[in-house]
Amino acid sequence: MTDRYAVFGNPIAHTKSPGIHAEFARQTGQDLAYEAIEAPLDGFRAAVLAFRDAGGLGANVTVPFKEQAFVLATQRSDRADAAGAVNTLRFEGDEIMGDNTDGAGLVSDLVDNLAFDPAGQRILLLGAGGAARGVGLPLMEREPYELFIANRTAYKARELSARFDCYGGGFEALEGRQFDLVINATAASLAGELPPLPDDIFAEGALAYDMMYGRETPFMSFARARGARVADGLGMLVEQAAEAFLVWRGVRPQTAPVIAMLRAA
Ligand code: ATR
Repeated sequence: MTDRYAVFGNPIAHTKSPGIHAEFARQTGQDLAYEAIEAPLDGFRAAVLAFRDAGGLGANVTVPFKEQAFVLATQRSDRADAAGAVNTLRFEGDEIMGDNTDGAGLVSDLVDNLAFDPAGQRILLLGAGGAARGVGLPLMEREPYELFIANRTAYKARELSARFDCYGGGFEALEGRQFDLVINATAASLAGELPPLPDDIFAEGALAYDMMYGRETPFMSFARARGARVADGLGMLVEQAAEAFLVWRGVRPQTAPVIAMLRAA
């Protein structure tokens, strides 16, 4: 019997995850099926349990259910605890193991695909919502010179920075400062907006990373115009999927061909 996995979200129509996992399965010679399931906004738990009871072995979880998946999990990894959110579930008997591969996905994309080693670097993380929370611990584990979290609502950045033992504040605190890596984890791109960044925020040779993918965002254009190297979040998407595949199947697939395939599409 084919092993079954799924991604739960709402909406879920545009997810690339089934295609990515189909490619991973082909590449590693594994027999598995991966489907996209749109859970009702008030029916996430029931949808996941029904999938497990029908023989599902694991699931990915995306917006807006990652916090509910955290609660649903009966056991959690350290990185899920640090993120306060779960994007990967593995069913084992009565236990529901919760993990979070988003931060590891970002770090893999930086290190393996973009040749950017966070160690000793000045890193600026924009935003203090779920996307930012997921990547704080894995970034700190790479021992940057500094991680600064900036958010429109400053107290949220301060709260989050206390959790990761780094620095945080409002955007006004960025005046006169330069960073080697600036990560946009705000929802500003969704609204076609640019976080209020000072003009000279990018250090010489800096990398600007937008967690969004699929189009040029105002943040990416802003960074490009100021001479920064620019990356979107497509690599992170594929890397977090590879990390989930590893959690489920014990093997980490090659990501470069899949990223290239998606870029070409
Ligand atoms: P997600 O889970 O995707 O991170 P979220 O929890 O709703 O989404 O958080 C959205 C983040 O984007 C927040 O940090 C938000 O800032 P506030 O905490 O001040 O609301 C940030 N954000 C949204 N729109 C923004 C904009 N136009 N400029 C700057 N930051 C923005």
